[in-house]
Amino acid sequence: MAKFRRIGVLTSGGDAPGMNNAVRAVTRAALAGGVEVIGINGGYSGLVNDNVRTLTARDVSNVVTHGGTMLYSDRCVEFKTEEGMARAVETCKKYEIDGIIACGGDGTFRGATDLSNRGIPTIGIPCTIDNDITSTDYAIGYDTAMNTVVEMIDRLRDTCESHARCNVVEVMGNHAGGIAVQTAIACGAVGCVIAEEPFDEDALIAKMIRMKNDGKRGFIVVVSELIPDYADPAFAKRIQEKTGIETKFARLAHVVRGGNPTLRDRVTAAKMGSRAVSELLAGKSNLVICEQNNEIVSLDINFAQTADRIYKGKAKPEEIEKYSADEQAVINATVAKKQQYFKDMLALIEEISG
Ligand code: F6P
Repeated sequence: MAKFRRIGVLTSGGDAPGMNNAVRAVTRAALAGGVEVIGINGGYSGLVNDNVRTLTARDVSNVVTHGGTMLYSDRCVEFKTEEGMARAVETCKKYEIDGIIACGGDGTFRGATDLSNRGIPTIGIPCTIDNDITSTDYAIGYDTAMNTVVEMIDRLRDTCESHARCNVVEVMGNHAGGIAVQTAIACGAVGCVIAEEPFDEDALIAKMIRMKNDGKRGFIVVVSELIPDYADPAFAKRIQEKTGIETKFARLAHVVRGGNPTLRDRVTAAKMGSRAVSELLAGKSNLVICEQNNEIVSLDINFAQTADRIYKGKAKPEEIEKYSADEQAVINATVAKKQQYFKDMLALIEEISG
């Protein structure tokens, strides 16, 4: 196996609190292993446009508390073209980058696979507040984002209670309802609307009227973004008209993506960053570092992406058929676990919100 001279690290897609901790862990672990580190600025666009810098141990000092990403981020359209990809590979050759660690979500991992296919060993670290990467129980940024939502909703609750109002709160997630269900439970929401499961608006209205008649003053309804008819101020208006409870609509939007990472995100980033470096230096590639049942594991990135596409209903039959029966069983179990999770969370909200 060829000796590694330098590895590159990048953050791509929507930023996530904890990305800096991952970059720090990667940098320090690589330097400890005698390998130099190149920070790639602005995700894949830094490779396409030759925008990189050397990272020393001191460059990643004092970043553990910082939200955002010190390497900046981008959703690089050019990288998806043959020309952009060729320029990215050129940059790797120019700086003698022997492998890349890419921190981000599913779009980032598609880019990582493209680089691996062009001879640059690549390993992915899941960083996305959406926590929507099917093969990992946890993605860096999720905990911080949820704690921010909890803080914001707690504030809304105070004023809802004072004024006997309801607040519909839209949270990010990009079609994934993880943030919504968890925060709905944590904040004592009366209802939660997510893309994964059907929603019974009439039942919510009936419950709210019953609770209001029982003396309840403040109400919170959490809605995951991008759901037609619900992630919309018109939903708040309907609740108001049908229940007689004054109802406001709040979109938390990007506020949820910023802020200092929580302990959970810092520690997970440290573990995943260190693991990614040890895999890369051991000659492994095309992996994504995941957390499953509280263990850090390394999975083949194509396998992980197929599981993701099956869960999201995007996989083609031939993509599934190339896996053995045993592998398909693992994918199906992963998908089923995720689907059941959302049913269980909504059932819990129903059980304890009346
Ligand atoms: O993927 C993270 C995320 O914050 C999603 O929750 C959201 O839909 C999207 O990114 C917003 O993207 P942008 O920052 O490009 O507006």
